[in-house]
Order: sequence, then structure tokens, then C-alpha cells
Amino acid sequence: MTGFRAKINKVKELVLKCMQARDMAYCPYSHFPVGAAILTADGAIITGCNVENASYGLTVCAERTAIQRAVAEGHRQFSAIAVTCDIKDRFVGPCGACRQVLMEFGSEWIVYLTKPDGSYKETSLSELLPLAFSPAHLGKN
Ligand code: THU
Repeated sequence: MTGFRAKINKVKELVLKCMQARDMAYCPYSHFPVGAAILTADGAIITGCNVENASYGLTVCAERTAIQRAVAEGHRQFSAIAVTCDIKDRFVGPCGACRQVLMEFGSEWIVYLTKPDGSYKETSLSELLPLAFSPAHLGKN
């Protein structure tokens, strides 16, 4: 475990919060609820759920709901995100679009993929989106 990873001592709380967020999902079309919980660098937890739309393509994933909410609440630095859905027999990762949106705020996120029983697998955004396009390519950072 790296020093950075060792700092994450709120995993259980983060996992619980993403499950509570999943319960808020608005998914009348897919019936596939997803929850996300983001841990900010200063220790706040911001949650999100998927919000679907009758115009299907306007659906917003749980992870993007969470990050947009976090930024709107003044957060720009993040340590980790936990995501969950109702699939019990394997760990499910964020979709590609969400990986890219998270990458906007750094590659060093820890990502916890969780199952409904509360078990989780730890990975990172850089593992999930290698060789990513990022703000650094536009001279930002
Ligand atoms: N979904 C998420 O919320 N996050 C993902 O990373 C993958 C998919 C949502 C979108 C849609 O409401 C439902 O899951 C089925 O695709």
C-alpha cells in the first residue's frame, strides 16, 4: 500500500454512502440503479445516482452526477470514488465516459468497485483509463 492509499481511512463510510446513493437512483427505463460516493481531499463525501431521461441519451450516470455535484459545491481535489450497482457476482467498473470525466480532476483517484454485500475491490483511475487524454495535454494543470 502506498502512502497515498494508506491515507484512505474512510472506505467503509464511502462504500455505505454509495449504496445509500444507489437507493436514490432514478432509473425507470433500465431498472439498473447505480450509486457513487466521492471522497474529497478535505474529507467530505459527495454522492450521486444515475438519473435517466425519456430521451434516453440524456441519462446521466451516478459517477457524473456525483462529480458535477461536488464541483458545484466547491470541490476540485479528490481522493477516491466508490461505485455500486445491483450486480452481485462480479465487480463492475464505471463506464468509459465517466472515467474520462473523472480524469479531468486527476489520475490519482482510488476507485472502489463494490458489490451489494459491501465487499469491494480497490483499483485506480489510471488503471481503469491508461494513456488517458487529460488537461495536461492542453497545457493545463
Ligand atoms: N450507469 C451509471 O450510472 N454508471 C455507469 O458507470 C454505467 C451505467 C447507469 C446509466 C443507466 O442509467 C444505467 O446505468 C444502465 O446503463
